[in-house]
Parts: sequence; structure tokens; C-alpha cells
Amino acid sequence: MKNKDYINMIDSACDYIRSRTDKIPQVSIILGSGLGPLADEIENPVVIDYADIPYFPVSTVAGHAGKLVYGSISGKYVLAMKGRFHYYEGNDMSTVTLPVRVFKKMGIENIIITNAAGGLGDSLNPGDIMIIKDHISLFCPSPLRGENLDEFGPRFPDMTNVYSQKLSELAAECGKRLDIPLKSGVYSFFPGPRYESPADIRALKILGADATGMSTVPEAIVARHCGMNILGLSLITNKAAGLSGNALAHDEVVAIAKLAEKNMVSLVKDIVKDL
Ligand code: HPA
Repeated sequence: MKNKDYINMIDSACDYIRSRTDKIPQVSIILGSGLGPLADEIENPVVIDYADIPYFPVSTVAGHAGKLVYGSISGKYVLAMKGRFHYYEGNDMSTVTLPVRVFKKMGIENIIITNAAGGLGDSLNPGDIMIIKDHISLFCPSPLRGENLDEFGPRFPDMTNVYSQKLSELAAECGKRLDIPLKSGVYSFFPGPRYESPADIRALKILGADATGMSTVPEAIVARHCGMNILGLSLITNKAAGLSGNALAHDEVVAIAKLAEKNMVSLVKDIVKDL
């Protein structure tokens, strides 16, 4: 796709969302599998169907809705994505990351990216929340491939500090205050749509991954490219393949996410309050 056409898509989506919202939100939030209920905590919500937003696809996965929810949490304006676009659904990376560029174009500077993930580390158990301190993107087709979008960022953006230290420290403080134990670790992207094999997991462990999942890294790379402040949070829904002896199933991932979502919702609300 030509840059001109892609910029036109970003601008059209941005104009439409602006026509439905009156303030520039302080933060955008991407809600992962089973984490959608955070959107129910948004006050005076304006709910925008993806189907109404120019060029937004509709997500096809059970457990992922397709709505943007705008409103306030503790006096701060937020824009939450209930349902994201995955690479494994057949979207190309420019579509997967379209919302992030739209958020940037709207003037939003902060983004909280959440996901459900499998835990590789011995200390990561189902129900745990992990602050993403870095990621492994080696298995992630680059969302920046093609002609550079100069108005968003440089051709070769630095990826030394993708995840904001300031926001990670704020998350850690909120976790302490709420008595929600938080872990910290490296998230690795896996393209899916399948879970890893036990041998994949052994390999990822050697590479330094603590958690693995099928999202987040494309959005984080694009948000970094355009200079947004990023907080990444993984909800660990299962021990990664081969570590527990059990087979993995999407319904179980969604069920554990549901059980643990209370903590995630309280945590993100507290973080937003203190932004
Ligand atoms: N692997 C990949 N993606 C996931 C997992 C996993 O174990 N759990 C939740 N999403």
C-alpha cells in the first residue's frame, strides 16, 4: 500500500473518532483476551463500533469484542479498545497497528497495552500480572516494513527503551498500594494461531523470554516508532506448553483471564488515576 493511502486511512479513522469524542484522551488502552470488563468501568461511556470506524476491521476471535469505549476513569479521559486486531487473523501488520497510529494522530501520548500470555518462568503462575520490561520481536514480522511514515517517526527507530520506565514504576507502586503482587519480565511474540510446542518454549526460554503470546509487540513497536509512552501488562493465564503437563485451550485461557481480571481492572484504574 502507498503511504498516501495509508495516511488517508489513519486520517479518516481519526476524524471519525474525533467526531464522537470531545476531549483528547490522556491514555489509550488495548484490552487483551478476557480483559474487556475494564471498559465497563469507564464513566459516561461513548461506545463506538469498529464497524462504524472507517478502515477498522472487525475482530473475529471469541473473547474479543469490537468496540472503542471513550469516557473517564477517576477524572481522566481514556480511549479503550475492546478487542484488538491480530496478525493471526490474517490482518497485515499495517492493519494490526492502525489503531495505534490513529491514537497518536488524535494526540494521545500514553498507551497501556495488555494481553493474556503463557508463563515460562518458574515464578510465573496463572493469575499473575507481569509488567513487560522488554520484548523479543525476532518472530514478529516488522510492522515498520515498507516506505517509512516520516511524520510518525524515523526509518530506524531505537528500541532500547520500548516500555516506559516511568509508567512501569507507577504500575509497580500501584500494585504495592493495592496489595496486588506484580512480576516483571520479557514478553515474546509468537505469530500463532496456535500455541507453542514444548520445544518452542524451551527455545524461547533460552532466548530469555518470561512470557509468550500472540499480540502486543507489533503495537508496541509502532507506538515506540511514534514516540508514545508505553506500559505493557501481561496477565499470565497458563504455564506455557510442556511446563505443566496439560494441553492448552483457548477457553481455559479466557476463563483464567476472567478469574484474574478483577486485579487487572483495579490495577489499571489506579494507574490511570495517577497518570
Ligand atoms: N502461548 C501463546 N499465547 C498465549 C498463551 C500461550 O501459552 N496463553 C495466552 N495466550
